Amino acid sequence: MIVKTFVLTAFQQNTRVVSCGETKKAICIDPGEPSAEVAEYIHDTGLDLQAVILTHGHLDHVGGTSFMHEEFPEAEILLHKEEEDLYYALPQQPLAMGMSPHQLRALGMEYDQPPRATRNVEHEEILNVGNLRFEIRHCPGHTLGHIVLAEQNEKVVFTGDCLFSGTIGRTDLPGGDHQRLIGSINKNVMSLDDDFTVMCGHGPDTTVGRERTGNPFLTGLYQPDRG
Ligand SMILES: [Fe+2]
Repeated sequence: MIVKTFVLTAFQQNTRVVSCGETKKAICIDPGEPSAEVAEYIHDTGLDLQAVILTHGHLDHVGGTSFMHEEFPEAEILLHKEEEDLYYALPQQPLAMGMSPHQLRALGMEYDQPPRATRNVEHEEILNVGNLRFEIRHCPGHTLGHIVLAEQNEKVVFTGDCLFSGTIGRTDLPGGDHQRLIGSINKNVMSLDDDFTVMCGHGPDTTVGRERTGNPFLTGLYQPDRG
């Protein structure tokens, strides 16, 4: 498995192109904004882009979907059914986050309606990409239809905005629920072996073991309800 990371948008989001070394089949996880660099990488390395898959519908994770669809019209666009409302509301998202039209322009955040999703992915579905097998796990709490992708042979999990190195995703936006997020992470990520690499939607990689022992939201050190 070859993972190429592009740090995109004012939110420093990790856009990934993940490919099978033997077959050159590839997926793009969370294209954050239109990026010629991402398209060039795929073309120059001769990858066959099978799908654009969205961990969730927030603007910094899906803002490049239209661009990718124009560049790679054969690639499927995949997301969880419960994430569709947020995804299709992309043009309205910045205002819903309290950002003024001025700020939006300064940050390059004005969005057209994104392309239709090709189909939905479901919990426990396997997405085959060449010799790679991505297990889709529904992981709500940051948003309603957030998914993570686990590759058992390579021992890598892509966690989007559920789990970061030393912290977890915010839960104050529509669809967010702190207890639900903790439950999702425990069920879908902490159930993996300690030596899984965790590739997050923002910031550095970590491992399941490191988060199990050191993440204050998971160890019980930080409990927001305790007062
Ligand atoms: Fe997010």
